[in-house]
Amino acid sequence: MIFMPWSRDLSLGLPAIDAQHHWLVDTLNALHTELATHEPDRALIGQVLEGLMDYTVNHFVAEEVLFERYRYPHAQAHKALHDQFTRRVMHMLTDHEAGRSQGGEVVSLLKEWLIQHIMGADKAYAPFLSAAEETERLIALARRQRLRSPRVVVPLLSRAARKRRARQAERT
Ligand SMILES: [Fe+2]
Repeated sequence: MIFMPWSRDLSLGLPAIDAQHHWLVDTLNALHTELATHEPDRALIGQVLEGLMDYTVNHFVAEEVLFERYRYPHAQAHKALHDQFTRRVMHMLTDHEAGRSQGGEVVSLLKEWLIQHIMGADKAYAPFLSAAEETERLIALARRQRLRSPRVVVPLLSRAARKRRARQAERT
């Protein structure tokens, strides 16, 4: 049985971000399976921690670039959560290198992160970024089609907003 299956609760509806979160779920499940079937494997735990460090650098930067691009109003508080997680992973890596780490700590950290951060703080930015990306896409489309008149662009934006509200209502 899969420890933490991917579910709609984890999905933000932003394909690039979801793919990165999927990697984290797969990592958690692979580590949990390993710990359930063998004695903790130090080399594997080290690999997971190093993978997590790469993840924090790449994934958090990807999110923060989007926050800056679309001026997400809660970017600073969100970034503070990323920094906190990065520090925890760094401590675990240091502990691991000093021979003190337990695989169970890594599983707990990842599970807590998936539930609290992705299902909480990340879910909170998803509608904002989806709306911003959609608006940007429509404006680019209007520019490409030389539809410079507000009489054409405004109805396009309103239609997109209606669709977005309907999708949000479906999700709740
Ligand atoms: Fe995040």
